[in-house]
Amino acid sequence: MTSNAVPRYDTIGRSYSATRRTEPRIAAQIERALGDAETVVNVGAGTGSYEPPERTVVAVEPSGTMISQRPKGSAPVIQGVAEHLPFADGTFDAAMAVLTVHHWRDRVAGLRELRRVSARQVVFLFSPFDVGSYWLVDDYFPEYADLESEHDAPSPELLARHLDVQRVETIPIPGDCVDGFGSAYWNRPEAHLDPTVRAGMSFMAQMDPATVDSNVARLAAELADGTWDAKYGHLRTQETIDLGLRLVVCG
Ligand SMILES: C[S@@+](CC[C@H](N)C(=O)[O-])C[C@H]1O[C@@H](n2cnc3c(N)ncnc32)[C@H](O)[C@@H]1O
Repeated sequence: MTSNAVPRYDTIGRSYSATRRTEPRIAAQIERALGDAETVVNVGAGTGSYEPPERTVVAVEPSGTMISQRPKGSAPVIQGVAEHLPFADGTFDAAMAVLTVHHWRDRVAGLRELRRVSARQVVFLFSPFDVGSYWLVDDYFPEYADLESEHDAPSPELLARHLDVQRVETIPIPGDCVDGFGSAYWNRPEAHLDPTVRAGMSFMAQMDPATVDSNVARLAAELADGTWDAKYGHLRTQETIDLGLRLVVCG
């Protein structure tokens, strides 16, 4: 650990495992991207979602709160940060980083470290460069724009400068996605009325609670009076959506 600051997820990750879990269709996409890698380092591993069960995995995670929620029998974990991986060059066949890069203090250092310790890198990230809009933030949580950690994703140019990018895959979000990340409930707006669901979304967890309460009250009112359905009801029967989740496969 390089920073004296308490890792953010020690605070916002207390109930992470209540709503955040492996979504099998996304896991299958990650498995394909890992190819024939036998040894994998999972950086920003959190509670262990998406760790491939049939490979030798070592996890790296800064937050003790997240580490304490890893299920019994999950891969061994080292408390540390992406920016300083405690491994020799080329230790792993592959490195994976899932919904974590936007939280790193120094993204360039972290990406360089991924490349240094592994032959292949599989990075799952949110790319705001590839998506127009999302009703949840546009209509109800515009304060999202003020949260540096959430939308300041590495640009495609930055990734290409520091990783040998082979391809970028779209990750479609299924309508019944079981991993409750920030855009998971795109067609189930009522889910956002549940505080446990909101606690699993880092952008909500970082907002002023009074602002969240008032935005949620407005969403509840507009669900009750039909405003939401008049604008977005067509989403309820859509099977998948592209909201800018990307799998960047490198090396
Ligand atoms: C949204 S969670 C994702 C966790 C897990 N990969 C998953 O898919 O459930 C983001 C994770 O990144 C971790 N993180 C934050 N800063 C980090 C850093 N500098 N290096 C590595 N991980 C970091 C957080 O502690 C948190 O566990």
